[in-house]
Amino acid sequence: MSFPSHSEIRARFPALASGYVFMDNAGGSQVPVDVIDATTRYFHETYVQVGGDYPASIAATENIRLAREFLRQFFGDDLAEPRGEVVLGSSTTVLMNLLSDSIANELPAGAEIIVAESGHEANVGPWVRLEKRGFKVTIWPIDPETGHCHPETLAPLLTEQTAIVALPHVSNLLGSVEDIETVTKLAHKVGAKVVVDGVAFAPHLPLQVQDWGVDWYVFSTYKVFGPHMAALWGRTEHLQKLNGPNHFFIPQDGTAYAFEPGGPSHEGCAGSRGLERYLEWLAPTGKQAAMRLAAEIESPLTEQVLAFLNSKPNIRVIGPSEASSKRLPTISFVHSGLSNAEIVATAAASGIGIKSGHFYSYRLCKGLGLKPEEGVTRISLSHTTSQEELEKLFAVLGPMLSA
Ligand SMILES: Cc1ncc(COP(=O)(O)O)c(C=O)c1O
Repeated sequence: MSFPSHSEIRARFPALASGYVFMDNAGGSQVPVDVIDATTRYFHETYVQVGGDYPASIAATENIRLAREFLRQFFGDDLAEPRGEVVLGSSTTVLMNLLSDSIANELPAGAEIIVAESGHEANVGPWVRLEKRGFKVTIWPIDPETGHCHPETLAPLLTEQTAIVALPHVSNLLGSVEDIETVTKLAHKVGAKVVVDGVAFAPHLPLQVQDWGVDWYVFSTYKVFGPHMAALWGRTEHLQKLNGPNHFFIPQDGTAYAFEPGGPSHEGCAGSRGLERYLEWLAPTGKQAAMRLAAEIESPLTEQVLAFLNSKPNIRVIGPSEASSKRLPTISFVHSGLSNAEIVATAAASGIGIKSGHFYSYRLCKGLGLKPEEGVTRISLSHTTSQEELEKLFAVLGPMLSA
């Protein structure tokens, strides 16, 4: 089986031709020409309302169905039974607010919710706010040395009343993969459901929601080379027990539309199908193989960035400092003598886009003893990052960070 070369992959992303080095991929990735073309074609040919009997409207309706089906498979769900549904929304933040509200409407009095402190606020705040509705919310604290929420510290927090455990699959600051299978087994023992934020995982490795056994999983397509929207996967049996916020006459039968007030973005769905074509081009054997290829490309890049940072005595890497198959190329650090703002300004002046801040993992920063308003400097790569780009990064930041 032969895959496209790295230069062919890069040539598929028009924005990369500008020569600017994009290393803020955890904030948002670039898109391949497949996504751009699919979106443009949709506007040219099919930009009408869904649900009509005329050809363009039939195609528009089909566009949403096919995007949903592609994303279901991308989540790692191609089972006929038990299956899940994909709810589409404008962002992960919107979808998590919608999910927490819908779940809270059905929770019994006295129900408890456990939330990982290491999470992005999108999967923390919506649950913490449920305290105001009378539910007990427990923060699953991070280990202040590593920033991780370990399964051993979850176990004593679980009770027969625990209804939800919410956690990130990968923190968007720490960059390492959490053991969601162990967490899910622990949670299921007391009957709790697990809600996983996969936003920082999905651009780097294949999703396997059915194998992992989780109940809910969410990611943002704009960080996975697609349009600016997000997708939430949930087990059909769980959706059937909830009422979505759509109009009262929309059937509440466990299908996604009940959870999509106003409907999904039609052009976003077209763009998602463009993403499907890109993944098929990357690896005709399947979406999972395409994402495995992305991981293989990224692994030596991660090693080099970590080796570069580890060679600077005044740098503290936030997250694991050693490369491993569970260490993704979202790499944060702080320097003892330089501000993050100075570091990113130097990079930007030389044509390299990296960012600093708390990246909405505000509580994690505080737990790690960092000032959230200063946060970390984050270098985040993608399978589109080239060796030349890394060398430019090292040449630009090397002298400054050695100080
Ligand atoms: C780990 C993680 N979760 C959630 C989000 C929120 O995603 P969205 O912008 O789609 O709301 C982000 C965005 O940066 C993220 O990195």
